Amino acid sequence: MIRTLQLTKSFGERTLWQDVDLTVPTGEMLALVGPSGSGKTTLLNCLGLLEKPSSGDILHDGTRITRLGAGGRRRFRRAHLGYLFQNYALMENATIRENLDVAGRDRKLHARALERVGLAGREKEKVHRMSGGEQQRIALARLMVKRPSLVLADEPTGALDEDNGRMVVDTLREMAREGCAVVIATHNDDVRDSCDAVFDVSTQRLTAAV
Ligand SMILES: Nc1ncnc2c1ncn2[C@@H]1O[C@H](COP(=O)(O)OP(=O)(O)OP(=O)(O)O)[C@@H](O)[C@H]1O
Ligand SMILES: [Mg+2]
Repeated sequence: MIRTLQLTKSFGERTLWQDVDLTVPTGEMLALVGPSGSGKTTLLNCLGLLEKPSSGDILHDGTRITRLGAGGRRRFRRAHLGYLFQNYALMENATIRENLDVAGRDRKLHARALERVGLAGREKEKVHRMSGGEQQRIALARLMVKRPSLVLADEPTGALDEDNGRMVVDTLREMAREGCAVVIATHNDDVRDSCDAVFDVSTQRLTAAV
């Protein structure tokens, strides 16, 4: 479970969002919506301890992770965090297998994850030869191999067609059910409607999904 307490982020004079109180229990998915530039990615980055909030706290399973030092932040990210970045963040010159090894070396888990994302048996292929959508699916497979307790996804369906977009959302739902909290920044209405709750970062309104 991840929780924010009065979380605020400003850049200079400009406040993106203020006193945000959100709770994402294990097993649930929260969508972050709002116009471009409203601060969705910044909120994800704060949750992932990649960026510091201006004020407020973040609790992960009761631990105040905003108080951690650099080493503690790194350990938290390694142990608990699965990040699906807008730009995939894969090692381009490595093979799919080498990219999955970063998350865990269990070959059976690799095979299961690749099967799930429609890339079964392609472990030896180099990442830079794959299309944008395929790279996004490798990033998703890597996430499944890691089995994090918190997943942060930044427009995870941006580069994908409708079927693959659905596959990504279904996989994230499965991961939530198996024991993690999921937060997804998205401009896509189908993705938003697949979540349990929706937080609009520009109006700061929280609603239960339809
Ligand atoms: N390090 C920084 N210094 C100053 N301003 C920043 C910094 N990082 C982000 N911003 C600003 O904060 C605002 C929010 O950016 P953010 O990337 O969080 O928006 P977003 O909601 O994810 O947008 P999009 O939908 O386009 O991805 C933008 O106006 C951006 O320019
Ligand atoms: Mg963004």
